[in-house]
Amino acid sequence: MRARLPVALLGILLAVLTGALALALSAPTLAVAVAAVTGLVLGAVLGQALVWLRASAGRAARVENRLDALRTSSSERHEGVIRAMRQLRETAVSAEKDSKEAARHTRELSNVVVPAVQAALRGHEEALKQHQGELQEMRVAVADEVDKQVVLLEDYLQLTRLVPMALPMPKPGTWAASEDLLLWLAGYVLEHRPRLVVDLGSGQSSVWMAAAMRTAGYDGRVIGVDHDEGFAQATRDLARRQGVESWLTVLHAPLREQVIDEREVTWYDVDAFEGIDGIDLLSIDGPPGQGAPYARWGALPALRELLSPDATVVMDDMVRRDERQIVADWVARYPGFSVERLPFEKGAAVLRRQPAE
Ligand SMILES: C[S@@+](CC[C@H](N)C(=O)[O-])C[C@H]1O[C@@H](n2cnc3c(N)ncnc32)[C@H](O)[C@@H]1O
Repeated sequence: MRARLPVALLGILLAVLTGALALALSAPTLAVAVAAVTGLVLGAVLGQALVWLRASAGRAARVENRLDALRTSSSERHEGVIRAMRQLRETAVSAEKDSKEAARHTRELSNVVVPAVQAALRGHEEALKQHQGELQEMRVAVADEVDKQVVLLEDYLQLTRLVPMALPMPKPGTWAASEDLLLWLAGYVLEHRPRLVVDLGSGQSSVWMAAAMRTAGYDGRVIGVDHDEGFAQATRDLARRQGVESWLTVLHAPLREQVIDEREVTWYDVDAFEGIDGIDLLSIDGPPGQGAPYARWGALPALRELLSPDATVVMDDMVRRDERQIVADWVARYPGFSVERLPFEKGAAVLRRQPAE
């Protein structure tokens, strides 16, 4: 309604002006009326044109404003996008830098860690191989030991069957002779019936040989020799408990420094052997070394003159270097003896006089 007002006013104004002009020109009434209507129409047309002009100017201004606003917001958005892209780029650059750094650290670490792990693995493999080897050696050693113990047990079973005892005997081995040597000594007595046996280092061996004489039923004698009166008495007590004291005498022969066959030695006092002669079996299982080397060397040099012509000499503990050297020295010094090694637990050697040609 308000937009129509200027159109109407301009129409009216032109109608009035053209009418007035026609009147002033003293035009006839019809002409005045036509002029007024023409003015009205013209005014209305002009007014309407003005209204449209104003309206389109307003629209143009609004469009301009919208365009400005759009331009502003688009450039702000654009800048925002650029900023965001810049940040993105910076982030990407820094991420790349970080990842390069991380890759370098990883490389450095793997240069240290991988060889260390490989070396550790190699070490473990070698240790495993060594342990497997040791385990195999242990298996073999255990199997050997079991075999040896079974053989010793069989020897002891034979011994107790061949030579019955009234009471239990102490455990053989360790300080006492092993089962294999005890069986050999008792077997020798049963088979060869030696009249006189001298047992250097008294103990179970002396008692078993005395019991073998009893079993064989002949009048033999075992003389046990001990450097220690306590152990000598222990052997006498064992012989008495087993009822073989009639076949066994135990001498106490303290150790003494003396010269035997031109050599200074510490051995049983030779005076203790006074009155002994015709030894058929000499068993050497003492004196104990107690740190002194070649403790048993004196046996053959001191007693060889007391041996019977077909005497047998047995040396225990041939697994030891000292005993092997002693036997080698005797054979070199006193020709006429043959040596046989017995494959016993502690090793033994048998020396026999070779028959004269
Ligand atoms: C090897 S032992 C003699 C063992 C004996 N022939 C036997 O078969 O029982 C040598 C000497 O060691 C001493 N002896 C014995 N048993 C001992 C022990 N359990 N501890 C320390 N010495 C011992 C004794 O003086 C013995 O004469």
